[in-house]
Amino acid sequence: MMAPLRPAGIAGLGSCLGERVLTNGDLERMVDTTDEWIRERTGILRRHLLAPDKATSDLVLGAATPALEQAGVEPGDLDMIIVGTVTPDHPFPSTACLVQDRLGARRAAAFDLQAACSGFLYGLVVAERFVASGSCRTVLVAGAEALSRITDYQDRKTCVLFGDGAGVAVVREASPGYGILASYLGSDGAGGGLLYQPAGGSRLPASETTVAERLHYVRMNGSEVFKQAVRVMGDAALEALRRAGLRKEDVDLLVPHQANLRIVEAVARRLGMPEDRVMVNLDECGNMSSASVPVALDQAVREGRVGRGDVVLLVAFGAGLTWGSVVLRWEGTGRA
Ligand code: UT7
Repeated sequence: MMAPLRPAGIAGLGSCLGERVLTNGDLERMVDTTDEWIRERTGILRRHLLAPDKATSDLVLGAATPALEQAGVEPGDLDMIIVGTVTPDHPFPSTACLVQDRLGARRAAAFDLQAACSGFLYGLVVAERFVASGSCRTVLVAGAEALSRITDYQDRKTCVLFGDGAGVAVVREASPGYGILASYLGSDGAGGGLLYQPAGGSRLPASETTVAERLHYVRMNGSEVFKQAVRVMGDAALEALRRAGLRKEDVDLLVPHQANLRIVEAVARRLGMPEDRVMVNLDECGNMSSASVPVALDQAVREGRVGRGDVVLLVAFGAGLTWGSVVLRWEGTGRA
């Protein structure tokens, strides 16, 4: 791989969660499940759901404001807006264009990027390449989901998992030796049927039948996705480290996709990472697909778990199947 012309890194972060809290106790009253089963099998205690009158772009706006402030940039400085989501406000126009308008980011190109739970990392790598090449100075990348809108609250196998939220990163040039050191993206479309939304696209457009058969909701083969997630996230993390010329021991904080505590623990074991070097917030947020990694990273930074010079390893896996990993040397936010 060619060395980037300019290093690029995260200059500002922000996050926003759905305002309504859904606890395991609430779910006990909705489907045949128990708080004990959900805690033991997933590690999730509660998740945040979006209000009925809000949409994914509202979450992005809520996360973008602090991220821009932290980076010390104005909306008019943005050259590009990328929103990773599987739950856009509308099939089209893109959620990124809605955000562009509402922010007043008049100079920005804007597009959505669909790589499910890996969407934020795919977006981060695209942003890095535009900054590294000199084509853009400032790129806003969001991972944002209103998963409650496509969750079947009659299906106990999936409805206990998902939450709504958004995380935003502002990507700009970094100092030499800082920012994104290496990345790795991959996919395996053969596994597409393991986790998908059957209806609402061109294969099976919305109709009375698709609605009656509940085909607009997420379908998942949980145990197969679980196995693949453990294997692929471990492999992807190691590949990004190899590309960065770093060892597992060099990582100060692992920020994995927050799908299931047992998956996170298995990946951490494979990387030999002790608990205190692994960011976990799925107990409070559930699985927020593309929003999980940026929200967890933002929280880790706000809690002081990431300091200047620390090596941070981001890794995600999701529908597609897709995966991605990014190694960063943290510079700190706020540089202009
Ligand atoms: O973000 C993208 C990636 N997504 C993931 O990584 C999710 C990966 N998968 C998982 O996290 C887990 O597979 C689940 C949490 C979804 C399920 O856990 P599991 O240990 O794999 O359970 P299972 O699907 O093998 O089901 C075991 C049993 C079944 O009962 P029987 O058939 O053995 O009688 C299920 O019906 O647990 C039952 N079950 C539940 N019981 C109580 C499934 N969901 C529930 C529930 N409450 N909510």
